[in-house]
Amino acid sequence: MADLPTVRWGIIATGMICEWFVTDVLKPDWPEKRANHTIQAIGSSSLEKCQKFAEKYVAPAKPTVQPTLYGSYQEVYDDANVDCIYIGTPHGFHKKNCLDAIKAGKNVLCEKAFALNAKEAEEVFTAAKEKGVFVMEAMWTRFFPLMKTLQKMLHEEKKLGTIYRTFSDFGLDFDIPNLPDDSRYKDPTLGAGSLLDIGIYTLTWGLTTLSDKVGDEAEEPEVASTQSIAHGVDLSSQVLLHYRSTGRQGICTSTTNEPQCKPFTRIEGSKGRILVDAEAPSLPTRFTFYPKDGGKEEVYTFESPGRGFYWEADAVALDLQAGRKQNATMPWAETMRVMRIMDGVRKRGGARFPVDDW
Ligand SMILES: NC(=O)c1ccc[n+]([C@@H]2O[C@H](COP(=O)([O-])OP(=O)(O)OC[C@H]3O[C@@H](n4cnc5c(N)ncnc54)[C@H](OP(=O)(O)O)[C@@H]3O)[C@@H](O)[C@H]2O)c1
Repeated sequence: MADLPTVRWGIIATGMICEWFVTDVLKPDWPEKRANHTIQAIGSSSLEKCQKFAEKYVAPAKPTVQPTLYGSYQEVYDDANVDCIYIGTPHGFHKKNCLDAIKAGKNVLCEKAFALNAKEAEEVFTAAKEKGVFVMEAMWTRFFPLMKTLQKMLHEEKKLGTIYRTFSDFGLDFDIPNLPDDSRYKDPTLGAGSLLDIGIYTLTWGLTTLSDKVGDEAEEPEVASTQSIAHGVDLSSQVLLHYRSTGRQGICTSTTNEPQCKPFTRIEGSKGRILVDAEAPSLPTRFTFYPKDGGKEEVYTFESPGRGFYWEADAVALDLQAGRKQNATMPWAETMRVMRIMDGVRKRGGARFPVDDW
């Protein structure tokens, strides 16, 4: 492990996703481990919260490096021992958090959705380009070995022959109307709604299974969509993707009215279909190929010692080591493509955020 690159992370916020990220990257080992990770600093709106977070989620891993704890985010950005900032605040803060970190010259891994709209995302990438720092949207699912294997099977080995359609659904059973008004699931200023929270994953399954291209090289699919709105946020979003060049179709849906259906994704092709399964579409664990010719089904299972955040963290480490400013799996143009699709879905469907200029 000594010759692997090490990233010293500065963690912004102490909510659920920061807990998941920190717990994962502090694990001693994972399949295809390519980097080491230390939690160098943690910043929170309150020093007390920060201390509790460190006691609960960092101390049990008995790391050799003890994080410096701060009662603000800015102190983490200014910490000279931090290589990369991990942003785990609600989406409504991502633009500001990213810009502040970039201004301090820091590399950034920012949770999805990367920003509230494409305009915000563009502002961040422009600042990153000017400052010469690395920035990536933390779309961790794209980095899973399962995803890489599936994409190879679909696009290189042509396991399904000609790909026709992908269905993907992400459901959470939340009682949105009865949540407090300041909940990140209900407050439009924080980016609430099923689309940016979970619909972004079903879009990801559509985009990754219907084509192997990302960013500027990828075709912009035609998009049709509907949303059901209550309390100013979308309780469900239905997005249809259509690739003109191949005729492929994606049916990408999300809802906060229903628990997850399983399997959550079905990819159909001329030689059969593949069903992808997991507790949630963000962390896939297995898929099954059902051949059309009546042959035996094939099950592919992927083990991991945690949830799987270390694969994206390793990818960041390798990019930083190589001096790259963008990641090839999730380049800036791919984040922009997803943000543009989601902007269009919200324009058609009516889930508007206060920062939107439409
Ligand atoms: N990759 C995934 O699978 C996944 C899963 C869930 C969430 N996420 C993403 O991660 C981000 C955070 O989600 P989460 O579920 O971790 O949220 P959360 O549990 O509510 O935590 C968010 C944290 O952000 C900080 N914060 C600052 N201002 C806030 C405000 N006005 N309201 C709420 N929190 C505020 C707080 O930390 P301090 O007080 O310590 O500063 C809070 O603990 C979102 O963008 C979400 O989409 C990703």
